[in-house]
Amino acid sequence: MPFVNIKKQYLAMGLLIFVMLFLFNTRPVFQCQFNAEVSSYLPVIYGITPTYARLAQKADLTRLSQTLMHIKNLHWVVIEDSAEKTKLVANLLKESNLKYTHLNIKTHKTKQSTPTSIQKVRGIKGVAASGVEQRNLALDWLKGHLQKAEDQRGVVFFMDDDNTYSLKVFDEMRKIKRVGVWPVGIVGGMRVEMPLVTDGKVSGFNAWWKPFRPFPIDMAGFAINATLFLEHPEAKFSRKVQSGFQESEILKYFTTRDELEPLAENCTKVYVWHTRTQKPSIVNPQKLKRPLVSYDHIEV
Ligand code: UGA
Ligand code: MN
Repeated sequence: MPFVNIKKQYLAMGLLIFVMLFLFNTRPVFQCQFNAEVSSYLPVIYGITPTYARLAQKADLTRLSQTLMHIKNLHWVVIEDSAEKTKLVANLLKESNLKYTHLNIKTHKTKQSTPTSIQKVRGIKGVAASGVEQRNLALDWLKGHLQKAEDQRGVVFFMDDDNTYSLKVFDEMRKIKRVGVWPVGIVGGMRVEMPLVTDGKVSGFNAWWKPFRPFPIDMAGFAINATLFLEHPEAKFSRKVQSGFQESEILKYFTTRDELEPLAENCTKVYVWHTRTQKPSIVNPQKLKRPLVSYDHIEV
């Protein structure tokens, strides 16, 4: 019947239009999803932070953890300089909702470990470095973790607990191939200590404090491709080197000055500051003449 034939034709046409619409609509969607997957790949940032008990510790760690809450795909490795893990740090980590690993190791202090008061006032490093054993323990943990991980890519960033970090520094470090560098504000007696860049390559350093260091940069001024720690499992910090040489000590395993990758717009932007929290001075409660309510039970 002609009526049936017409209907069949309409049906075939309709089907064709439907298939074409489906293809037109879905192909870009597939492509978008695929592209989104490729471009949204973010290497894990392993932020390694030694920390020790002091009056401003919780304040410093609160500020830092609340910066880190804005960073995608970050794994915070916090190492307490103590014989036991403390409740203060354990609770702070738990409440942060960050992905973290909590470790501890106590530094065995020698007489040399404490900076002189002049060094403290000038805001430069003491005689012996802080955080050496803690960062090394974190590197041991990292190697074990990466060996088991499906995805061994990542970025290692050594973060002091009292520095100030712009969110932008984390975007920068995800671009590194081996070792990336950038300026650090307010450090080594300068407004900014920074690599000098010529034609997209590091050609020198603008550093006043110990400019003869192999890499005259602060710990906050570089990040390292995490996979390299599997290639060089011997890479670690050392108590044997003089003050200010820890950065050079670790970097020497992975890179040369020529190979450094300048970031933060060819090292013209400051995205991290070597701030230091002033040691607070409070009155000794035992010496107070007026009886006050005891606040020992309050975590500060
Ligand atoms: C500078 C550098 O930025 C640090 O990376 C380097 O570790 C340090 O000097 C050094 O070589 O001693 P600075 O501000 O002088 O930093 O040092 P701190 O911020 O007091 O200490 C660096 C990190 O180690 C901090 O995260 C701090 O919490 C931790 N630390 C400090 C300990 O774990 N134990 C300590 O006894 C002192
Ligand atoms: Mn510091």
